[in-house]
Amino acid sequence: MTGTSDDERGAEPGAELGAGTDVARGGIFAGSDPFAIARSWLAEAEGAEPNDANAMALATVDAAGMPNVRMVLLKDIEADAFVFYTNYTSRKAEEIESAGKAAFVIHWKSLRRQIRVRGTVTREAGEKADAYFASRSLKSRLGAWASHQSQPLSSRAALMARVAKITARYGASPPRPPFWGGYRIVPEEIEFWADGAYRLHDRFRWIRASDRESWQVTRLNP
Ligand SMILES: Cc1cc2nc3c(=O)[nH]c(=O)nc-3n(C[C@H](O)[C@H](O)[C@H](O)COP(=O)(O)O)c2cc1C
Repeated sequence: MTGTSDDERGAEPGAELGAGTDVARGGIFAGSDPFAIARSWLAEAEGAEPNDANAMALATVDAAGMPNVRMVLLKDIEADAFVFYTNYTSRKAEEIESAGKAAFVIHWKSLRRQIRVRGTVTREAGEKADAYFASRSLKSRLGAWASHQSQPLSSRAALMARVAKITARYGASPPRPPFWGGYRIVPEEIEFWADGAYRLHDRFRWIRASDRESWQVTRLNP
């Protein structure tokens, strides 16, 4: 077997409690703006992960309370929200629109850190979504039009036929489809987690009752 065992991991001298374990919230956990901390961790991950450092597992719940989860890409960290893009007729969209809430986790193996977020969700369907759509490759823009995301598909050939049809219609400048855009997750709760030796990890939970209130930060047991 290769790699480090769970018990050895991070156990080098001086690393007994991992990063940022001072009594106050310091090191990688320091600051008064959780969105700034998230941006800084993501920037670090972009330099460390082999690909898709912005991939996050997005959890939703259906009308019967059955959870659902899938990966999406975190495309923006705004002043008060985390943004991803998708098809508004997809299953995730249906579940988001009916519950008005979602959660996600990002885990970076290279950094041994995770960020968890729970919050309310609204659409990002205006100029920002247009600008993001325009920044995508032409093939991705045409693909967004062609995919009836989450619906049954008879064959790959049927999908490629739709791509050809869309290409013939819009050529090199397809507009953003009306059924495609962003979602903004406005957090009520954010947790920053970093691996520590002997599973004595560091966890800080940021909570606020509404986006007008200030954040309360609590250190949690691992
Ligand atoms: C790394 C990764 C990134 C993905 N990013 C997105 C994304 O940003 N938006 C999206 O709609 N689907 C994305 N997908 C596909 C989704 O995981 C999922 O298959 C699709 O959105 C349909 O999900 P749904 O049926 O629950 O709506 C990604 C998949 C992977 C593995």
